[in-house]
Amino acid sequence: MPAKPRARASVPLPILLFAALATALSVISNQTTILGIDPQGSARLNGESFQQSPLITFASYQYAAFYTSTGIYAINHISLARRQLHGVSASNWDIITFTDYNQTTLDGHNTISLGISPGDGSIHISFDHHDVPLNYRHTSPGAANGSAWSTSVFSPVLHSLPGASDGPYTPLTYPRFEPNPSTGELLFEFRIGQSGNGSSYIYTYNPTLHSWTQTSEYLRGSNNNAYINSLDYLDNKIHATWTWRETPDVVTNHDLCYIYSSDGGKSWRNSAGADIGTFATPYTAGVTVFNIPQNSGILNQEGQTVDQEGRVHVLNRENHGTGEYRWWHYWRSAEGNWTRNAIIVDGLGQATATGFRGKLAAVKGELIAVIPEQVSGEIKVLISTAEGGFKVWKEVWRGDGFAVDPGVDKQRLRMGGNGKWVLSLFARQDGGYPQRKVVVVDLVLAD
Ligand SMILES: *[C@@H]1O[C@H](CO)[C@@H](O)[C@H](O)[C@H]1NC(C)=O
Ligand SMILES: *[C@@H]1O[C@H](CO)[C@@H](O)[C@H](O)[C@H]1NC(C)=O
Ligand SMILES: *[C@@H]1O[C@H](CO)[C@@H](O)[C@H](O)[C@H]1NC(C)=O
Ligand SMILES: *[C@@H]1O[C@H](CO)[C@@H](O)[C@H](O)[C@H]1NC(C)=O
Ligand SMILES: *[C@@H]1O[C@H](CO)[C@@H](O)[C@H](O)[C@H]1NC(C)=O
Repeated sequence: MPAKPRARASVPLPILLFAALATALSVISNQTTILGIDPQGSARLNGESFQQSPLITFASYQYAAFYTSTGIYAINHISLARRQLHGVSASNWDIITFTDYNQTTLDGHNTISLGISPGDGSIHISFDHHDVPLNYRHTSPGAANGSAWSTSVFSPVLHSLPGASDGPYTPLTYPRFEPNPSTGELLFEFRIGQSGNGSSYIYTYNPTLHSWTQTSEYLRGSNNNAYINSLDYLDNKIHATWTWRETPDVVTNHDLCYIYSSDGGKSWRNSAGADIGTFATPYTAGVTVFNIPQNSGILNQEGQTVDQEGRVHVLNRENHGTGEYRWWHYWRSAEGNWTRNAIIVDGLGQATATGFRGKLAAVKGELIAVIPEQVSGEIKVLISTAEGGFKVWKEVWRGDGFAVDPGVDKQRLRMGGNGKWVLSLFARQDGGYPQRKVVVVDLVLAD
């Protein structure tokens, strides 16, 4: 009996296995740099999966947003770090800290997200929400291009978006930014409402007018709410996947849903390409791409990415009624077909219902899963290829001593060249205060 799981891993034809492994990237070096001391207390304020972007790259600079301890229990400050990139290496972090705002809520929802408008180089941050009014600050155009780096280039904390003063901006949770490299716009997405009763909104930053407009209330709960995995742009098309939650209880999450938009989130299409109008509800036809019953797993705010061929990938954790949680990879082919497979790789620990969440990233037709082990504190990096139908996974790196939903810098990964790419991970170490640090792990990948 104990030999069973191994037997499953060897099912693919030998020739397929060989092809898949032969093309996979490997990690040739690693470096860890410290951003700061992680705040004291039981809440994890740094490194939650719904921080769509704690770590981003723009032009030749990388930026990280994190809370730092002030040394006083439950009083934390927001820090932003910037460093110049030189190919696969980087200068030291230059860190600024906002002392005019005290973060005092010990609640892991209250993370920081970071965005940069590709069109005008303005920096935007949103932070410290769990069903409260918007907290937002921004710079003038060009601040991300390497000019003076100080807190004085940022606006005060604002509770509405310049240009779109009406809102709604409360009760707000889960702010996410997503840049559109094709238009230079920056999208801002968040939930208004509560768990089990809410809607998801998109606002758009116009890099010519330097102001915001409301684009859509694109996911509308009906006595429930959507938890999105991510918003991802590729070639001016934006993709969203999500699960529905019926009540505040996570066991009521169900289904995997998908829509995409070619006009910046104003109107949407289902997986078959049919126009669904400006929003989806639980009753919209053709948006459920997999029926997943309640009590199957948490399914909310998991991993998502879109690869360079336009394939959409999702990383879930599910038990499929067996009681045993596994990591599941779902993907949509460029033709619109959905497939799912359990991720099977030697030594991979069991997933859990509500433990640490993983991330997906893609480069060069290869798919990267960043998996936090629930028990050992390891982060594992697994790679799979299109040639192998994304069925064969190979571990290319593991590091230990973490307690985090890792974040991934997808802009830096895309910037690779000369046969090398850098996977920068935003992570939080395990351990007690003040030994526990917020760190960035750079893994250099080569083919
Ligand atoms: C933050 O908390 C400290 C310690 O209580 C206090 O001295 C300071 O005035 C507070 N700052 C703000 C902006 O509220
Ligand atoms: C900042 O960089 C972006 C992208 O490289 C560019 O389009 C923009 O003009 C720059 N802005 C300033 C003020 O330098
Ligand atoms: C659901 O959310 C809306 C918007 O925040 C709110 O007006 C309404 O009272 C909520 N309904 C319930 C039953 O909580
Ligand atoms: C996609 O699904 C359609 C309809 O089920 C099927 O005819 C087609 O062969 C599939 N394409 C691929 C590439 O699997
Ligand atoms: C990181 O790189 C160092 C060499 O710089 C190596 O000794 C170490 O094993 C690597 N660690 C991991 C976890 O890959």
